[in-house]
Amino acid sequence: MGVDRITGETQDITAKISAHYVDNARNLPWRVPPKLSAKGTLPDPYHVWMSEVMLQQTTVAAVISYFQKFTQRWPTVADLAAANEADVLAAWAGLGYYARARNLHKCARHVTDNLGGVFPSEETELLKLPGVGAYTAAAIAAIAFGRRAVVVDANIERLVARIFQIDTPLPAGKADIRVGMDGLTPKNGAGDFAQACMDIGASICNAKTPKCEICPVQGHCAAYGDGDQMRYPVKPPKKAKPLRKARFFWIEQDEKLLLVTRPSKGMLGSMRALPDDNWAAGTDGHGQSPLDGNWRIHENIVQHSFTHFSLEVDLAVYQSDKIVINKGDNRKTKLDDALWWPISGIEDAGLPTLYAKAVRWAVKHKMKDHI
Ligand code: ADE
Repeated sequence: MGVDRITGETQDITAKISAHYVDNARNLPWRVPPKLSAKGTLPDPYHVWMSEVMLQQTTVAAVISYFQKFTQRWPTVADLAAANEADVLAAWAGLGYYARARNLHKCARHVTDNLGGVFPSEETELLKLPGVGAYTAAAIAAIAFGRRAVVVDANIERLVARIFQIDTPLPAGKADIRVGMDGLTPKNGAGDFAQACMDIGASICNAKTPKCEICPVQGHCAAYGDGDQMRYPVKPPKKAKPLRKARFFWIEQDEKLLLVTRPSKGMLGSMRALPDDNWAAGTDGHGQSPLDGNWRIHENIVQHSFTHFSLEVDLAVYQSDKIVINKGDNRKTKLDDALWWPISGIEDAGLPTLYAKAVRWAVKHKMKDHI
């Protein structure tokens, strides 16, 4: 089966998906409701761009509060451009994939400094912006500017793969899925149509328990017809993720914790963090401590999954009374840019989730077991 089978039906499918959206669109803070968009109202491109960057690899439920926090604190692209990168990264903490936050800030500066504060409306121009790839450029062009662009995210991928029973495994199958979505996308209202498909993909045509009984295109879905919806989209065989080891160092004095700012290049770049043993360099961490003295090692306190590997973290807690930090020390883990942060206000440090998990573990066990 494939995209050719039901070309005659595409207008019907498009009409049913669009009609469903009018009554069932999710009320999301970056959207214009369909009744208003039908009259030609478009959302603020700054909001659409911000939401689409946040929604890359992240769920709507996780993004809403971050979107509200960012747009309240930085209401315009010029406000965001004027912010410090460190503040933007700290506000992003917990959302993951931090390169997005650095690119968000870079893009705000570029739009403000070089484009007069106006986002481009053409996909080809949007594609030149930092952090804007093919998906995001299409989504912004369609949603913010009403252009006819073919938008394919993971929800749309699943919906289209099922409607057309696209058998080629991903990622090669993406080409057919794109052809399928191109055939469905209307000339006018491509932004609302894409969001209608996203909503159906998220709430009806979901990955684990699709609710085909309430789907507006059930009668057109080739996979439903054959009862094999769960086969789509066809995925390549899963590769086992390698497991890496890391060690974090807990150095505390007078209710304050020693934090470092990570190097600007590499994973979680420029974020504040606990000192660690350089696990991000591509192999297991070296395990060597940054200070002489007694350390108590707590093994495997945190497990964290990144896209290409999983990480198991040991926490080394400094036990000696007197803390002497030698800057410029010739050690593998350096404390040159270290700062003392009050443990009572550690939520404001903007730690990435990996380190926040370790801090949560330590605070809990400090109270319980006096680690
Ligand atoms: N995922 C990515 N963009 C989205 C949007 N505009 N609405 C809902 N989910 C999305």
